[in-house]
Amino acid sequence: MIKGVIFDLDGVITDTAKFHYIAWKNLASELGIEIDEKFNETLKGIPRLDSLIKILEYGGVRQKYSDTDIDSLADKKNEEYKLLLEELSKDDILPGIEEFIDELRSNNIKIGLASVSKNAPTILKKLELIEKIDFIADPSKVAKGKPAPDIFIEAARGIGLEIENTVGIEDAESGVKAMRACNMRSVGIGVEADLTLKGTSELSLEVISMLDK
Ligand code: BG6
Ligand code: MG
Repeated sequence: MIKGVIFDLDGVITDTAKFHYIAWKNLASELGIEIDEKFNETLKGIPRLDSLIKILEYGGVRQKYSDTDIDSLADKKNEEYKLLLEELSKDDILPGIEEFIDELRSNNIKIGLASVSKNAPTILKKLELIEKIDFIADPSKVAKGKPAPDIFIEAARGIGLEIENTVGIEDAESGVKAMRACNMRSVGIGVEADLTLKGTSELSLEVISMLDK
């Protein structure tokens, strides 16, 4: 029985995925590497440093950069990303998400967040949703990012539920893999999962309850 729903953030609650893409594309371009939307799909859900390493490997220049260089390049990308986030407001919540969260809350279903983004609390504040989330898993406290299951396991622990009583919602293949690795039932937004939906406006308690049957 579903007693808790665990959300991914970027691409599920709000479309910050497009800002990550802009900031990565600009940084990659400065390093002489061109990335496109198809390659960007492989970065979705992946932690910041892992994403940068993937970009450098894609450009065949990973060996040119030390760990310190990588840290400062990742910081540079994050500074641009944070500038793009400045304009974020409640209007940027994806269609149907707030109504769905309210429906879950009024049915006493716990709400967790399993994002590997270190900017998650800032983003949720800007969207005025932070008060409605029962627990935000801290990515700096888990050993591995997606596609490892750690962040989903931590989010389920934080809302006090067994994995079998939770359902996770993701827009990225890496996130669906993470849920499958811990046997969490999955809803995919535009990505194949146990229950696949085209967009966030299709989410409702009735729809996700199909996973209980
Ligand atoms: C994930 C995004 O939610 O967070 C990735 O899908 C991003 O694209 C990752 O790289 C880390 O986010 P941040 O905000 O800590 O750089
Ligand atoms: Mg996502």
